[in-house]
Amino acid sequence: MRGSSVGLTVRAPAKINLHLGVGAVREDGMHPLLTVYHAVGLYDDLSVIAAPDWRVGLDAEDYIDPVAVPLDGDNIVDRAATLLADHHGVARSGDLQITKAIPVAGGMAGGSADAAATLVALDRLWRMETSDEDLLALAARLGSDVPFALVGGTAVGTGRGEIVTPVADHGTWWWVVVPSPLGLSTPEVYRHYDRLFPDAPATPTGAGELLAALDSGDPKRLAATLHNDLQAPALDLRPDLARRIAAGEAEGALRGLVSGSGPTCVFLCESGDHAREVAGAMLAEREPPVVLVTNGPVAGAHVVTRG
Ligand code: C5P
Repeated sequence: MRGSSVGLTVRAPAKINLHLGVGAVREDGMHPLLTVYHAVGLYDDLSVIAAPDWRVGLDAEDYIDPVAVPLDGDNIVDRAATLLADHHGVARSGDLQITKAIPVAGGMAGGSADAAATLVALDRLWRMETSDEDLLALAARLGSDVPFALVGGTAVGTGRGEIVTPVADHGTWWWVVVPSPLGLSTPEVYRHYDRLFPDAPATPTGAGELLAALDSGDPKRLAATLHNDLQAPALDLRPDLARRIAAGEAEGALRGLVSGSGPTCVFLCESGDHAREVAGAMLAEREPPVVLVTNGPVAGAHVVTRG
């Protein structure tokens, strides 16, 4: 925490979609989803101190290009603060510092994590005691993935992804995460899905087998049921990702897939030791340059320090 002023830090997790079933595009341009979100231990931290005006600063891990983080203009953090301030009829104020570790435009909902962290941090800083119900409703207005970033754990997402229902997940699942230096645009991947699958069903594919696999605690069974309808359009736009997935599986990962709309690729492994082994083998090839190891499920946006 900077200075001696009163403030706090909120930590918000990245997500992987264990299942991402996408239905035919709706009249409002969004797609109906049946997804299983899974929060993993890769976090953005957001520190805030009281200030008379409004300021947002950024630190980022080495593998993140700070120029790629859209903090100018009408970004999602500004919008989250304005929405909460308007909800309570107060002026937007605070000095925020974001420390990014979640890949940008990577399909891991980093922007959504920042929005969720902003809602939680400013609610506490301004002493608003916003109800969970209201926070979730504000989150849904900010983006389809933002409510899940508040809830965390493992959860089913329906509607356009904004209706979140937690599911029991007693396992600890280990992942190798491979970010890509060049991001993919989520709307672009959805538009390409529409082009590739003009006859997509109105109702997205269900996740019954995956939920049973989660309940079993067996990583091999979970690996066999992972599913992402956005993988085909993402690989069509970025053929290099198919080679990356094949390389991770050749190094022994149980299963590799594109995270959300990509381009981050994630690899399910049997254990922490196994994930470190696979990551080490991938790094030894020097391609890709950045390989991370993490696990899930972890908590949604939460306060980690108070000043
Ligand atoms: O909800 P969010 O702002 O994160 O969505 C970003 C974009 O992703 C939307 O404008 C839309 O193009 C696409 N999207 C979609 N269907 C969803 C979620 C997102 O088409 N369920």
